[in-house]
Amino acid sequence: MVSYRLGRHGFAAEGAMGREGTEVLFSEETIRKRVGELARQISSDYSRDGELLLVGVLRGCYIFLADLSRRLTIPGSIDFVALSSYESGTTAAGPVRLVMDLRTDIAGRHVLIVEDIVDTGGTLDYLLSVLRPRNPASLKTCAFLRKPARLVKDLPVDYVGFDIPDVWVVGYGLDFKGRYRALSDIGIIATPPAAR
Ligand code: IMP
Ligand code: MG
Repeated sequence: MVSYRLGRHGFAAEGAMGREGTEVLFSEETIRKRVGELARQISSDYSRDGELLLVGVLRGCYIFLADLSRRLTIPGSIDFVALSSYESGTTAAGPVRLVMDLRTDIAGRHVLIVEDIVDTGGTLDYLLSVLRPRNPASLKTCAFLRKPARLVKDLPVDYVGFDIPDVWVVGYGLDFKGRYRALSDIGIIATPPAAR
């Protein structure tokens, strides 16, 4: 059983057994509610800015971005980048690399980066440093999950779904060695990876 309580939203781990032997941290219902809140907040914040460009960070963002984008009430478009730092499992393997760039010119656009999870913050920090010089009208960040205990530097994340403890989570787009991404809830794997 997971006994800690979570960050500023105060949710306890939900504790039920998920599929593939995971322990449920956030159920589908909890996720759905929080995505709705984020979508309302973002729609309101950008209501006077015209079109919003969502930049999804592949591959982990794909489910969150699909859910979030469908619940925004403002006009927008979507593009993707792919970044890589974790070569396998959960061990950071060297510097972040841009594996696939945007197809959109972001100069003068309102850009919101959409990430599955901010862990050390290295990935997001790198992506901000790549996109900032392209002169977007605004550049903000949204991560469904964040691990405050692991953050290396004080990184601005404008929208956060949940702050979580330092555990390896899977499901809702998040993987461990490529597995578990399609699980509908977010869970902790029973045997945590040793390599951390
Ligand atoms: P960061 O650069 O350390 O912030 O790591 C960010 C990336 O690591 C995320 O976009 C994920 O792809 C991956 N990651 C970090 N923690 C987890 C986790 O608990 N589960 C699955 N992927 C994770
Ligand atoms: Mg990611």
